[in-house]
Amino acid sequence: MSPERQSHLDLAGLTGDPDTSGPNAARMYDYYLGGSANFAVDRAAAEEQIATLPSVATTARANRAFLGRAVRLCLDLGVNQFLDLGSGVPTVGNVHEIAHQIDPTARIAYVDREPIAVAHARRLLRDESRVSVTQADLTSPRTVLTAPGVTELLDFTRPIAVLAISVLHFVRDEQDPAAVLATYRDACVSGSVLALSHTTTENLAPATVDRGLAIYQRTSTPVIPRPISEAPALLTGYDVLAPGPVRVTEWRPDVEPDPDSAEPVANTWAAFGILP
Ligand SMILES: C[S@@+](CC[C@H](N)C(=O)[O-])C[C@H]1O[C@@H](n2cnc3c(N)ncnc32)[C@H](O)[C@@H]1O
Repeated sequence: MSPERQSHLDLAGLTGDPDTSGPNAARMYDYYLGGSANFAVDRAAAEEQIATLPSVATTARANRAFLGRAVRLCLDLGVNQFLDLGSGVPTVGNVHEIAHQIDPTARIAYVDREPIAVAHARRLLRDESRVSVTQADLTSPRTVLTAPGVTELLDFTRPIAVLAISVLHFVRDEQDPAAVLATYRDACVSGSVLALSHTTTENLAPATVDRGLAIYQRTSTPVIPRPISEAPALLTGYDVLAPGPVRVTEWRPDVEPDPDSAEPVANTWAAFGILP
């Protein structure tokens, strides 16, 4: 199938063969956020998901807001190096934009496996200093940790913030996400950070869960939701900061949520840990 390409989706520098024969989670997420780095096939699947679970776009925005709060907290803590695993298609409020507003010397290594997200990121970031984009699979931590875009930018003798934001639910149980994160943890020194958020289906009706997961099952990126009770295993070795693993909207919100708000509840949890 010939993908429908939007004029501004410049894929120059594409490495690897993007799978445009079916929808992809990176590009669906971009669509939820109002981006344009997506194809008709992604938009159709995303619309189906929105019809199934109307809170999906709100959740995506809440997740991006958490990302911003986590980056700012890292800088408050003096951590100005970021390894952003599953960084996605660059959109509003990227890590380097937030970080460089506060600390222009901050360094950001973006990592994603999706060729179109990577090509788009490379094009948008080509004039940025102190930013790199690496195409790699985060479940091969040794590959990521030895990639030039990572080793030439980040100083592993100083604290690093590992960001795994809304990505581990694409890692299957047999790939052992906790062990993957432990490899990154062991490459980092004391004072380093792990910030993560993860999709959960807690509080959703079973029929909604079945329909929603079936949509992602048809993509190259099926989703594996995990309950908040699995957060501690993923954060092994880190001191988890208050309020602990909580729903993403409840993690140190800039504005306290209105209990009477009709805003749908985000089906993602978030947590932030510091390596002692
Ligand atoms: C939902 S998006 C999240 C983007 C960004 N972290 C955020 O929170 O806004 C998930 C991203 O993770 C990427 N991804 C999924 N599995 C991955 C893997 N095993 N290695 C690297 N990237 C992965 C996808 O390509 C997609 O761009």
